Amino acid sequence: MNALVRAAYPWVKTPIIVCAPMLRISLAPLAVAVSRAGGMGFLAGGFDQSDMEKNFRQARELIHQSSPPIPQKEGVLPVGIGFLNYGVKLEMALSVVKRYIPAAVWLYAPHKLSELETWAEQIRDVTDGKTKIWIQIGTAAEALEVARLCQPDMIVIQGSDSGGHGLKQSASVIVNIPEVGDSLAAAGFSHIPLIAAGGIAEGRGLAAALALGANGIVMGTRFLAAKEAQIAKGYQDDVLRAKDGGTSTARTETYDIVRGTTDWPPEYDARGIINATYFDDKRGMPIEENKKLYQEALKKGDEGWGPKGRITTYAGSAVGLVNEVLPAGEIVKKVAEDARKALERTSKVNFE
Ligand SMILES: Cc1cc2nc3c(=O)[nH]c(=O)nc-3n(C[C@H](O)[C@H](O)[C@H](O)COP(=O)(O)O)c2cc1C
Repeated sequence: MNALVRAAYPWVKTPIIVCAPMLRISLAPLAVAVSRAGGMGFLAGGFDQSDMEKNFRQARELIHQSSPPIPQKEGVLPVGIGFLNYGVKLEMALSVVKRYIPAAVWLYAPHKLSELETWAEQIRDVTDGKTKIWIQIGTAAEALEVARLCQPDMIVIQGSDSGGHGLKQSASVIVNIPEVGDSLAAAGFSHIPLIAAGGIAEGRGLAAALALGANGIVMGTRFLAAKEAQIAKGYQDDVLRAKDGGTSTARTETYDIVRGTTDWPPEYDARGIINATYFDDKRGMPIEENKKLYQEALKKGDEGWGPKGRITTYAGSAVGLVNEVLPAGEIVKKVAEDARKALERTSKVNFE
């Protein structure tokens, strides 16, 4: 597995540490900083071609300026790009991917999983197989379906603790990784590496994911407190403030409704820090009034966030483990080092 990873992504250290493509947050500075530290950085594709082009151009420039240089395959950018498939046209994605040849394309949340077969085929076609196909799924059934349809180069298994959007009905990583791993192996897909996503924000989480059978991890919530994240101060401060993610965050559709981002497939909701929007909805406030208050909160800037604020603060249940803002590269290195220590400690456990 390590040899496969090294061949496809020569700058990546194992176990693989990935920064999730987070819409409007994971831009070039964050993605490149993660790849520069030996992780896998993803740009969030978004829905607009000129934004994608701008992100890729900036990433290419930052990669070019990196000293020491990032080890890379000739003609392949050492970052990936993530697409939200329900809202992006294949032709648009193909035109940017063909021009910039990212190391990987991350596919997520199509209306139907069967749509991904054409995506995988055409991305491989326009990049001569240089761009690898990563697919984020949330259940064992989804993993089997994408394995059969697309033969992905990487499967990201998203658990219910994850921040931002995810399946309304899903299990935690601790259940999902071994079950997905077993199901794939039984169907002859044991060669596809697995990456755990959801609720992992530090080294012990990485160590646990490895013990469960994953080859690496994706973190989103942890990187919200990266120096390079494109994020409002009010948002980042609330991520640092929130503790005890089981009670300070919730999965809900309310935030999508007040924001008007209701074009997600119906199987999805999203996890965010609970605030006045959420409480008022639970108390029965008419949604039109809640939407109006949300629009007013947007005008307050950083004051609009926080437990009494109303602006959406997507984050996962690991938010209580995120206590300081660090450069993304330091986050990558610290998580790897702390996982090594956790596994060393674990290896001394006595079974009597
Ligand atoms: C603020 C935020 C925005 C996200 N945006 C995206 C996105 O645009 N595309 C995507 O595939 N996943 C997105 N995700 C989900 C991640 O891919 C990943 O599953 C999740 O962050 C893992 O859980 P964690 O937040 O506990 O680390 C987002 C997550 C967060 C926290």
